[in-house]
Amino acid sequence: MVANNLRRALQSLSDGSSFTLSIPKDNTHGDYSTNLAMQLAGATKRNPREVAEELVARLNADTTLKTEIDRIEIAGPGFINFFQSEEQVKDLLKQSISNQFTFNIEDENKGKKVIVEYSSPNIAKPFTIGHLRSTIIGDAIANLLTATGLTVYRDNHLGDWGTQFGKQIYAIKTWGNVQEIEISANPVKELVSLYVKFHEEAEKDPTLEERAREWFKKLEDGDSEARELWKKCIDWSWVEFSKIYSDLNVVFTENNGRGYGESFFEDKMQVVVDELKENGFLKNGEEGAMIVEFEDNKYPPLMILKKDGATLYSTRDLAADKWRLAQYGRDTRIVNEVGSEQSLYFSQLFELEKMLGWVTEGQRVHLKHGLFRFADKKMSTRKGNVIWLEDVLSQAHEKAVAISKGDTAQDPESIKKIAVGALKWNELMRDPIGDVVFDWDEVLNMKGNSGPYMQYTVARLGSLIETSEYKDYQAMDFVGSEHILARKVTKFSEYVINAAHHFQTSTLCEYLFELAQDFNTLYDTTHFIGHEREESLITLSVSVRNTLQQGLSLLGISIPTKM
Ligand code: ARG
Repeated sequence: MVANNLRRALQSLSDGSSFTLSIPKDNTHGDYSTNLAMQLAGATKRNPREVAEELVARLNADTTLKTEIDRIEIAGPGFINFFQSEEQVKDLLKQSISNQFTFNIEDENKGKKVIVEYSSPNIAKPFTIGHLRSTIIGDAIANLLTATGLTVYRDNHLGDWGTQFGKQIYAIKTWGNVQEIEISANPVKELVSLYVKFHEEAEKDPTLEERAREWFKKLEDGDSEARELWKKCIDWSWVEFSKIYSDLNVVFTENNGRGYGESFFEDKMQVVVDELKENGFLKNGEEGAMIVEFEDNKYPPLMILKKDGATLYSTRDLAADKWRLAQYGRDTRIVNEVGSEQSLYFSQLFELEKMLGWVTEGQRVHLKHGLFRFADKKMSTRKGNVIWLEDVLSQAHEKAVAISKGDTAQDPESIKKIAVGALKWNELMRDPIGDVVFDWDEVLNMKGNSGPYMQYTVARLGSLIETSEYKDYQAMDFVGSEHILARKVTKFSEYVINAAHHFQTSTLCEYLFELAQDFNTLYDTTHFIGHEREESLITLSVSVRNTLQQGLSLLGISIPTKM
């Protein structure tokens, strides 16, 4: 694969300097371009163009690049641009035609493990739009990492433990009715109302907090009534969550598909607390809580135990990571896809794990997404103002029906694919970091740069390919924009590799969208069927179709058979 070979050749000339290998926006600047000459010149105070000339001479002499690279040019202040050979373009097209994509030719990821933890909703609380973002992004990232040859474990860190269950149990016992919740259409909504009620009542009567603590203590001590109510909360929530996962076509691999929730680490926290003590990291904080402080107050202290000795979210995360490293191997990378509001917390957590010598720099990754806000207020479960995911899904379904024609609108499977495809694409196409004001039109967008547009393009290509009599897809006689499109197709693997490397989907989406657009433009202005080069045009169509389909599939988006 060109980019891989190029990277290797440049690496050997780099003297350890860092450099980029990028795909120029403007294809007259070549298929690939590097800033290596400028980097080297900067380090040695030499003229970058001169350095570039030397590099080019050596690259031209590199026989490993002979068949792939046709010519190398120097541009601007010292960029080196590479133009793929025709032979190479054809080879890569053949790969896409036979659906033989390679995303990791060097096997450098072989045997490397990574845990991708995503979704992680909380029991007895709404599956929020934030959890939806985490689910969609985490799943796509896990797919991309798998494609590049890593061994990927998909985990779901369910919030199924913690002092809030004391409040929940107290609320169910005081104002709720288990039988009624059981038969209600939506038990989780009942639980959330009870939880909201608890907080309203506790404002008036602060002693309720004490009752809640007692119930949590009972739960921890294994009291059968407390355990039973807690189990019910989990079962009710799981029914709902698993429906969402099945709608979204998302699976987890760990703990028989349930993921290791917080409660799994209940009996694995003491060793962590002991280890913190032995290392002298555990200090008395204000009001008797136990905390960890960071060198030079790099971060604020992290609380590990509450004043009553109760464990926290942080205690369970530490236990989870210790267990994971023991279970999967100490070099395993751990990626948590969680909202950016937890950035400080994850920095503290990673820092502490480094202090403990568990992990090295870069081994822990917080993959963040911004918050969805209402224009005027923050979403909050306690206050009861949240967007319910089921409403998002049902609105997406309605809209999918509205944009579909004929048979498709009648076919529930196709509608689901369109609705879910739209939600996923809208999420994956944008840079996830910034906070966004929640906007129904944006979340459900099905026009222009959208999931349905991508699916529609694949479906359109499918029927075109079916219509043509040509079936052997060998001819590759391209002119003008066809040629540009063919070259674009050959960049697919590089975009996938980059997306996996940076845990970032938006550039891959941008690439796929451009590919779809370029194809549609060509198709709208050219009669493929009956064209004198129909065979070549159909070959190109197959390679674009396969590439788009594979790209969407990596993003977790399926294609309806008809649209
Ligand atoms: N349950 C948490 C929440 O909804 C997210 C958990 C993220 N994962 C973790 N290992 N802390 O905010």
